[in-house]
Amino acid sequence: MSVYIKTTKEDIDYEAVAALLNSFGMSGRNADEQEKIFKSSYAVSFLYDGDKLIGCARALSDGVCEAALYNIALAREYHGRKLGRMLIESILEQVRGCNIILYTHPRTVAMYEKFGFRRQKTGMAIYQGNADDLKRMEKTGFLLPEGYRFSDNELGRPVGGNDEKTEI
Ligand SMILES: CC(C)(COP(=O)(O)OP(=O)(O)OC[C@H]1O[C@@H](n2cnc3c(N)ncnc32)[C@H](O)[C@@H]1OP(=O)(O)O)[C@@H](O)C(=O)NCCC(=O)NCCS
Repeated sequence: MSVYIKTTKEDIDYEAVAALLNSFGMSGRNADEQEKIFKSSYAVSFLYDGDKLIGCARALSDGVCEAALYNIALAREYHGRKLGRMLIESILEQVRGCNIILYTHPRTVAMYEKFGFRRQKTGMAIYQGNADDLKRMEKTGFLLPEGYRFSDNELGRPVGGNDEKTEI
């Protein structure tokens, strides 16, 4: 095994990227679309074993303060050998200093906690897709039901104004 990371966007096997993401149900986009998606991203990491693409990750970012991670995947036969860590550390390194957000499958939440991520109560999203897609996302645990409220955090005005220093 001769594994290495590429952080460039040229000469990448985007057919393999499309197949990899598709194999985990993470994206059904074709190779041309994946090429556009990855080339339009701020940072990319591709893991290769020799000339075979085995992993990918990308970040959207302004390069200064905010970043979001997407499409982190490693071929099944390479799991459990710290190569996922290598991939994630590579993409994190490229957005160092930024606030970083991601959403993930419920089964990988505990893994991202190992990289310093914390759960959020106020993260919100608009997802594309039909009613069935959104229902499926709810069922899997990606989305809370419409109108969901945490029992200890009903909607209300912030007391004393917004004096926090968080960049939002
Ligand atoms: C997510 C993924 C890239 C991780 O790769 P991996 O090779 O399995 O992970 P590694 O062996 O590098 O493990 C990295 C660390 O995460 C931990 N970890 C891995 N999977 C975990 C899980 N499901 N829950 C908790 N911890 C987990 C490992 O114990 C290891 O911890 P350590 O380095 O502190 O000992 C890989 O499992 C994958 O491609 N999964 C399918 C796609 C996916 O679900 N992507 C995430 C959604 S964005």
